[in-house]
Amino acid sequence: MKIGILTSGGDAPGMNAFISKFVSLMEEKNEIVAFKHGYQGLIDGTVLNLTKEVVSNIAHLGGSFIRNSRCLEFKTKKGLKKGLTNLKLNGIDVLVVLGGDGTLKGAKELVKNNVKVIYIPTTIDNDLVYTEQTLGFDSAVNAAVDAIDKIKQTMISSGRIFIAETMGRHSPDIATNCALATDANIVLTKPEHCNVKEIVLKLKEEISKGQEGISIVVKENLVDVFDLAKNIQNQIDVEARACKIGYVQRGTSPSVIDRILARNFASQTAQLIEKKKFNKALGVIKNKIISKNILEI
Ligand code: F6P
Repeated sequence: MKIGILTSGGDAPGMNAFISKFVSLMEEKNEIVAFKHGYQGLIDGTVLNLTKEVVSNIAHLGGSFIRNSRCLEFKTKKGLKKGLTNLKLNGIDVLVVLGGDGTLKGAKELVKNNVKVIYIPTTIDNDLVYTEQTLGFDSAVNAAVDAIDKIKQTMISSGRIFIAETMGRHSPDIATNCALATDANIVLTKPEHCNVKEIVLKLKEEISKGQEGISIVVKENLVDVFDLAKNIQNQIDVEARACKIGYVQRGTSPSVIDRILARNFASQTAQLIEKKKFNKALGVIKNKIISKNILEI
């Protein structure tokens, strides 16, 4: 069989671990090619041959070895048509697609156009409802926790309050997990949490107990954290600082949990292809790998 693989949307730690394991399981009996830069690669039609040698020693790296992109053209009829043509020209029997919710929409369009697809949920945001876990989320949380721990040390030293904004687009999962793991004083994940008066009251209470390293963890796309820090500082006689943890969360190396999840997703993908069971989306429910019909999720 000729198998195509692509990584689309934002990259996620664990993509390389998946590619490495999948290629090593499948290359003997199949030809495997990557379309570089996600759906853009389908439109351009340029492929990279993947062998065990090519993908050895990449499993521990963040980012995507075969590159990714958010491809707007693939959302158009013209873009999709170009992609379908290139899949045919390259003789692709099945396409393995890694990415988040936008990527899943693209995968559904391919299935509707009779392409055989296996979809792997990879995003640091953990925002796909059919699965309890997406590949990359655990690594991002670990990277954010590591950053918050370090920020906390300098804030304790200088007697400041700090606000840390995590990634996650519209999902609260990175923020809430970081808040729990770092014992944050406040976590803001919804607009109704952002009442400055209430935040200040809570902070004053913590200060009166003599607590050091007081922290607020904030979900992305909720509030301007720099304005919030100034606002707090103006109302309390303590310095406040804000920082966005940013792309270190996404570019980090995959955690142990994500490396193992990537291997398990790769083994399951290999088994599905060998059994000729296509158009499946993989996921995790109660710590078990599951697969669902792509068009039903
Ligand atoms: O979807 C992953 C993610 O890292 C989100 O957490 C974040 O909101 C977004 O991508 C950032 O996108 P970009 O890389 O386009 O700036």
